[in-house]
Amino acid sequence: SVRPLAATVAEAVSRSLSAALPAAAAGIGPLVRRSDHADFQSDVALPSAARLGTPPRAIADTIAGHLNADVIASARVSGPGFVNITVTDRSIWSQVAARADHERVGVGRPLTGERIVIDYSSPNVAKQMHVGHLRTTIIGDALARVLSFLGATVIRQNHLGDWGTQFGMLIQYLDEHPAARQQADADTPIEALDRLYRQARQKFDADADFADRSRSRVVALQSGDPATTAVWAGLVTASQRSFQALYDRLGVLLTPQDVSGESTYNGFLDEVAAELTRLGVAVESEGALCVFSAGSTGPDGKPVPLIVRKSDGGYGYAATDLATLRYRVQTLAATKILYVVDARQAQHFELVFAAARRAGWLPDAVEAIHVPFGTILGADGKPFKTRAGSTIPLAELLDSAVDRARKVLTEKAPDLDADTLEAVAEAAGIGSVKYADLSGSRIKDYAFDVDRMVDFTGDTGVYLQYAHARIRSILRKVPAAAPVVDPGLPLHPAERALALLLDEFARAVTDVAETLEPHRLAGYLYALAQAFTTFYESCPVLKAEDPAVRQNRIALCELTGDTVAQGLDLLGIAAPERI
Ligand code: ARG
Repeated sequence: SVRPLAATVAEAVSRSLSAALPAAAAGIGPLVRRSDHADFQSDVALPSAARLGTPPRAIADTIAGHLNADVIASARVSGPGFVNITVTDRSIWSQVAARADHERVGVGRPLTGERIVIDYSSPNVAKQMHVGHLRTTIIGDALARVLSFLGATVIRQNHLGDWGTQFGMLIQYLDEHPAARQQADADTPIEALDRLYRQARQKFDADADFADRSRSRVVALQSGDPATTAVWAGLVTASQRSFQALYDRLGVLLTPQDVSGESTYNGFLDEVAAELTRLGVAVESEGALCVFSAGSTGPDGKPVPLIVRKSDGGYGYAATDLATLRYRVQTLAATKILYVVDARQAQHFELVFAAARRAGWLPDAVEAIHVPFGTILGADGKPFKTRAGSTIPLAELLDSAVDRARKVLTEKAPDLDADTLEAVAEAAGIGSVKYADLSGSRIKDYAFDVDRMVDFTGDTGVYLQYAHARIRSILRKVPAAAPVVDPGLPLHPAERALALLLDEFARAVTDVAETLEPHRLAGYLYALAQAFTTFYESCPVLKAEDPAVRQNRIALCELTGDTVAQGLDLLGIAAPERI
């Protein structure tokens, strides 16, 4: 059971301000923010002045004179009526003590009761994951971790691209090329399947008869022909095995149980089309069954249709997403659905959500959100491709980051033994790739530059891992017993800055949940690591002469170490004990 934690210092300040407001201004929420002039600043006097018809400075003076002295050491009025507040050292130390005792470093479970479906990763069978899939996998996983830490029930859904006309082509090709077919068993690596896919595609584009045979093969697959289905199942199994190996290496939470591929919804597509037609949401247009939504127009100004059923009678990506959404609401009982998918699919999701709302499959109470992200570019800022123009296998990218980490570590930490070096290089390389992705605004493109990603001194994953390991190494030198915090000691400015920042951890985590922007947490952790460095440079810990001072500083070290480790874990980044 989790001990309820006293509110943050900022919340205590807010309460004190509210209590000091003149009665007629009751209910005006005081916005308390950190400030360069004092610990906190509030502008509550300004909206209060409008309500009371009194000059804001006069109100600010009244408020400043009525604050709770246990929490607030001094309040100074500045500018048009800002109240600048310095809190007591005692309240800050007491907060450090309370947080150090709390197993979730002060974070509650405000999302208890929510059921959040997160659609992420979702690669395509028989194709290598490309860099875009790296982003959805990393971002989706960080969101899954944060939302479930905050108490939500998270349902991970890997919407595998395991259905569609391309399988007709692939299976027909295998059928006609026995040598190729022998390669394609359940152990076939995805690289080999990817090559097969490209050969099949070439033949499909060049040979009209083969294209026809491929189309009949799709019909065979859709009607459950056993031989065709068996080949298809082999392709899916082999692909999934490769994907899972990559997930395991990346340390993401996805498991085979989270896979619910496009084929899962095949049996519902007729029903979806019939219901949309019956409701008048979908209409025939040029032989196809389409949904038109107000406001969704293409570059030519014409309405863009969501094609539910093509003129040849086949269903595609859109129909499947409609059936999927219906299932997520009706069967998975989602209260919120996140689609962590490339920004280029924005219009697709707009149209799907609009159609589902009109059909009544997406009630007002359920939020469906496309969580888009930008493109990964090469280190030169150009589209990320090999010289030959093909996409770069993800495993290779990860290897390059791990190689770089190994090189840097050999210089930085020459006394690591070979096994530890290997483990730390893997954690640092992968962690840095993840951090580089998560530390920028989602929607922005960024360059995949391993030299910049794996740098011990910048805003990088390995910098944070190193900061964490350094704190653990300090703590290995002190007795295991939990430090006893003495709230009566004066605070050094660097201790104050660190303690107040530690107090903002829960805010940073809930910010991620509200904005779906993991960089809110990444940026917080970076600032925290910097505040720790400043503290450690100006405040001796092990060498502190006064044992009470030493205890308080050890508590700050522990709390910082736990907070950084928890924060990295929420981003899906390993925090090794030693580097
Ligand atoms: N398989 C798709 C792709 O690789 C992504 C699927 C995203 N999820 C969805 N429900 N449409 O682009």
